[in-house]
Amino acid sequence: MGIGIAQVAATAGHRVTLVDRDAAVVDAALTRLGGTLARLVAKGRVTDVERVDILARIGAVETIAELPECSLVIEAVPESLELKREVFTELAEHQPATTLLATNTSSIDIGAIADDVTEPERVLGLHFFNPPPLMRLVEVVHAKQTSRAYVDHAAALMQTWGKTPVRCASTPGFIVNRVARPFYGEAQRLVETGVADPATIDAILRERGGFPMGPFELTDFIGQDVNLAVGTSVWEQTEHDERYAPTQFQQQLVAEGRLGRKSGHGVYAYTADGTVERPEPDAALADRLVGGLIETDPLARTLAMLVNEAVDLVHRGEASADDVDTAMVLGVRYPKGPIAWGREIGFSVVADQIRALDAALPGGRYRPSPALTDGSLT
Ligand SMILES: NC(=O)c1ccc[n+]([C@@H]2O[C@H](COP(=O)([O-])OP(=O)(O)OC[C@H]3O[C@@H](n4cnc5c(N)ncnc54)[C@H](O)[C@@H]3O)[C@@H](O)[C@H]2O)c1
Repeated sequence: MGIGIAQVAATAGHRVTLVDRDAAVVDAALTRLGGTLARLVAKGRVTDVERVDILARIGAVETIAELPECSLVIEAVPESLELKREVFTELAEHQPATTLLATNTSSIDIGAIADDVTEPERVLGLHFFNPPPLMRLVEVVHAKQTSRAYVDHAAALMQTWGKTPVRCASTPGFIVNRVARPFYGEAQRLVETGVADPATIDAILRERGGFPMGPFELTDFIGQDVNLAVGTSVWEQTEHDERYAPTQFQQQLVAEGRLGRKSGHGVYAYTADGTVERPEPDAALADRLVGGLIETDPLARTLAMLVNEAVDLVHRGEASADDVDTAMVLGVRYPKGPIAWGREIGFSVVADQIRALDAALPGGRYRPSPALTDGSLT
């Protein structure tokens, strides 16, 4: 992720210094970036002068201590709190007190990273999506310690980089990785209980829901292991809330090494050239399920839970309704923001659907957010 973020910053005109514990990684990344920019020149998207300027703006050092004084540092080391804490302590030691210290973490609490940093009010999350040069969304994540002025500054800066910033509190999964959980979890539960097969559920979500990919093809694409790790992290950080509990179905896939496209087999099988070998969806079954009982309707059940999750984030004061909708459209290409979708369905209808799900499938997973009925969202 580091080199992609560096490309974005350098393209926006900033001088950038890379630092990696492994110098060979930097060399390889710069070679890759050279190739990427040459292809952009060939396509006419970047001029040759711009290519040379972008590369000239990017330098590298071998240690954090050697970094020049920076206005912003974006950390993108592996996803380990211990490692990130070490890096932030070293950054705070060597950078001026006014340097904004950002982390690209996908799942770690920003407050826990900021804890040991001197001037923790300058620590925040800048969560880019992969690949950073192509994905417009950046989640600007604030901890309790983060100052509002730094959040405003970072969000404005992201706009000058051509990005669309959304703001959120450091809640497990932030916006996208939190709100999207039911998209995968409901589908997996429908398969576990024998309601439908993956290909039929994927076809329903894609063709009748307008999602660019169904939940099974998408998790095969992301990697079942990566998707399970994100879900498990949210579940653990929410004190094992049933709403985020990992499924046996996905745990089993990962245990068997069926990780998706990258391992040649996930929910579906893939040929060496990446072609999916997917069974035909059962169109007659799809016709029977959609519009039927909520607990066996893959589309209505998934939408109700997505809307519930989205409005609950707003209810807890962790993000605005507009930012939640923007994040889901730009981050995971949902055809509509889930809150706008909930407004179309009717928030009270969604509340009734969640209550009906709870009656059919008790256990604490299906709880309507107060925001569905308290009139706070119109
Ligand atoms: N890959 C994605 O799709 C994605 C998307 C959004 C956010 N993220 C987040 O970005 C971060 C990085 O992810 P990645 O996939 O690029 O990881 P990666 O493992 O590809 O790269 C991490 C780099 O950090 C270097 N490193 C390790 N310890 C270091 C240290 N102490 N000082 C300097 N460099 C060090 C490693 O040598 C490696 O090159 C993670 O927090 C991840 O959650 C990743």
